[in-house]
Amino acid sequence: MQTLSINLPQKQYSIMIKKDLLPTIAKHISMNHSNKKIAVVTDEHVDALYGNILMDSLSQQGFLVTKIVVPPGEKSKSMTMLEYLYGQFLDFKISRSDLIIAFGGGVVGDLVGFAASTFLRGVPYIQIPTTLLAQIDSSIGGKVAVNLPNGKNLIGTFYHPDAVYIDPKLLETLPIRVLRDGIAEVIKYSGISETSLFEDLSRYRDEQELLENIHSVIATCCEIKQSFVEKDEKDTGLRMTLNFGHTIGHAIENYFNYETYTHGEAVAIGMARITTRSEALGITKPGTSEALIGLIEKYGLPTTATDYNQKALLESMTLDKKNSTSGLHLILLAHIGKSLIQKVKPDEIHLYL
Ligand code: GLY
Repeated sequence: MQTLSINLPQKQYSIMIKKDLLPTIAKHISMNHSNKKIAVVTDEHVDALYGNILMDSLSQQGFLVTKIVVPPGEKSKSMTMLEYLYGQFLDFKISRSDLIIAFGGGVVGDLVGFAASTFLRGVPYIQIPTTLLAQIDSSIGGKVAVNLPNGKNLIGTFYHPDAVYIDPKLLETLPIRVLRDGIAEVIKYSGISETSLFEDLSRYRDEQELLENIHSVIATCCEIKQSFVEKDEKDTGLRMTLNFGHTIGHAIENYFNYETYTHGEAVAIGMARITTRSEALGITKPGTSEALIGLIEKYGLPTTATDYNQKALLESMTLDKKNSTSGLHLILLAHIGKSLIQKVKPDEIHLYL
């Protein structure tokens, strides 16, 4: 078992990575958590594949458990689903000394984390992420939220889990498009950090070879995320670097109604686009966009959007909570492995899109 530790002023927690961890996970949970009553929240896809394994492990360890299953997909990150979860927690008589488990991808993690943060003013929870994106990004760092009809993640807070348990074996059943959704974030980390990640991704033949090396890929990504979160927990400075490709990516997701592109695909387009533009502006070292685009394409991710509409993207950016009327912070690459935060005035944003 590889263990990383997130150390924040008010909270310390571990990220544990181990292949085939799920069948024995309750043993690890019982070593770290004295809570006896556990509400597991998952989605229908994860439940069908792995629900019984987790529930059996917890019951055999003597926990009193209930399972709450929500429909898969972004639509579940809603106020309606939140209210449904509160009702289920009430029925199971969850108290602040009990435990909630978010067992799923980013949607489940964000929804359940937010429910845990608000129910009874905060119940402890742990994350067992089941997608690559959730294992390397959304389960770590405490960002939890639900969506409003006006936009994604508009109601949220920072609420860290008590632990994150990562079983890379769970990725073996991911549909290729969902795996690539996470690979886009791995490529993001490879661009913004001084690690061997970019070289490794360039060296691997394909997704299969990446999966053969997934333990170290996950560990490296988690270490990068840990370092940004520890330096800037509340996302007011350095942590914004993790948004490389996301400003354009969010606008693309929004413009296409969250139906055409996955989050990772939109981020891939965003990384390719902004790096091409910043290179043309002389900010980024020549050749960077070609190298980055080559890597994105190699992993079957898009680098341009059909019907790309700069004006519409600009409009949808005004809705992004990270942007203010005085401008926004764009994350650019100086070169592969070195990022910079560029404050851009509203009338200059079009230059980067
Ligand atoms: N996913 C970006 C962050 O956690 O800040």
